[in-house]
Amino acid sequence: MLANILLPLLALSGTICAASTFKKRMDYSEKGSVKGVNLGGWFVIEPFINPSLFEAFGDDIPNDEYHYTLSLGKELAYERLNEHWGSWITEADFETMSGIGLNFVRIPVGYWALLALDGDPYVQGQLPYLDQALEWCAKYNIQAWIDLHGVPGSQNGFDNSGYREDAEYLAWFQGDNLNKTYEALSIMSERYGGANYSDVVAGIELVNEPLGTYLDINTIAEYYDTGYKMIRDDLDLVTDVIMHDAFRDQNYWDPYFQLYDYWGVVIDHHRYQVFSTGELARTIDEHVDFVCKQGADTASEYHWSLTGEWSAALTDCTYWLNGVGRGARYDATYQSSTKYGTCDGINDISTWTDEQKQNTRKFIEAQMDAYDQGAGWIFWTWKTENALEWDFQRLVYEGLVPQPLTDRQYPNQCGY
Ligand SMILES: *[C@@H]1O[C@H](CO)[C@@H](O)[C@H](O)[C@H]1NC(C)=O
Ligand SMILES: *[C@@H]1O[C@H](CO)[C@@H](O)[C@H](O)[C@H]1NC(C)=O
Repeated sequence: MLANILLPLLALSGTICAASTFKKRMDYSEKGSVKGVNLGGWFVIEPFINPSLFEAFGDDIPNDEYHYTLSLGKELAYERLNEHWGSWITEADFETMSGIGLNFVRIPVGYWALLALDGDPYVQGQLPYLDQALEWCAKYNIQAWIDLHGVPGSQNGFDNSGYREDAEYLAWFQGDNLNKTYEALSIMSERYGGANYSDVVAGIELVNEPLGTYLDINTIAEYYDTGYKMIRDDLDLVTDVIMHDAFRDQNYWDPYFQLYDYWGVVIDHHRYQVFSTGELARTIDEHVDFVCKQGADTASEYHWSLTGEWSAALTDCTYWLNGVGRGARYDATYQSSTKYGTCDGINDISTWTDEQKQNTRKFIEAQMDAYDQGAGWIFWTWKTENALEWDFQRLVYEGLVPQPLTDRQYPNQCGY
């Protein structure tokens, strides 16, 4: 095992550029060191996190930020979004995060915040708020990943990439979209991955959730390779480079990375069990067994790995979780004819049964234990307007997330 890992690196060590060797920003080999939340719905708006921004349109509701800005026009879109950027997350949030034991945030940013493209309806003005956020991070001892959450053409067609596509047609690798992506990544890395933020920014994530089950996986790998070299060698930055698993199984990337001198790389896994009927059919014990297995496997990966998104959701009931105008598989109102249960009251804790609360707490504790087998976890997301299963702050308040974070009502579920 050890020999397998060391040999290719030793073989290459004579030929590699000294500047990039051993540079790392943080040591992710320490299990469970990252306890974080995503700052979702801030610089990339999402209908399920901030429905009020979208509901304001009445009958003709846009699906995503692209259509939101397209409908409003630049002036009005800027006015509303600027108001949102200045109020959705404030210093008080960072103070609360630190107070409940969190030490990490992942901050999604769309390419349009960094690079204005001709013909795009998107508006800019996010970066001063991001700069301010990083100052608050420093003040409250919180480390940050800056994550390129949407790229030109969209890397997955999800509304959270800025642009939702209803049919599978992703334009990331068409025209000069990839070139523009490198340009945006370079601006982001230079500004946030260097000396100015070296005490706060712990990593740059090359792209969020590229749809590796549909897009050409080799082109994604090439983007990872080029992006990595751009950051570490061309720009000569110390920051760690974060790569999402592209929806490939655990260990998929091991052989690929063993070929290269990649230091300071973290593989980012996102773990949800509610986006298919098979997963929704699981009992709570099956949900828990599944994450425990993932935790055990994580420890065997070639590179540092971390769970950069997960939630408390045991259903896909949350309003607009599957997109504007879409229902839920759980109650057979979207892409399913099997009804697993009712979605009524999903966001109203006063209607939850004791069993629902117990299962949710069990699921949260098991996930923390499992993901701590890697470098740790980053919950999706810190706050929402009204999506309880996805709202860390409210889950803490309702006693469903342990306080302190290490407290366990269901200890040792995974038996590690
Ligand atoms: C992308 O950039 C490269 C290098 O600058 C250039 O050779 C290539 O033609 C560009 N591709 C597109 C599609 O613009
Ligand atoms: C670092 O901060 C200084 C002072 O605000 C600024 O002038 C400079 O452009 C920043 N460097 C980068 C790479 O953004």
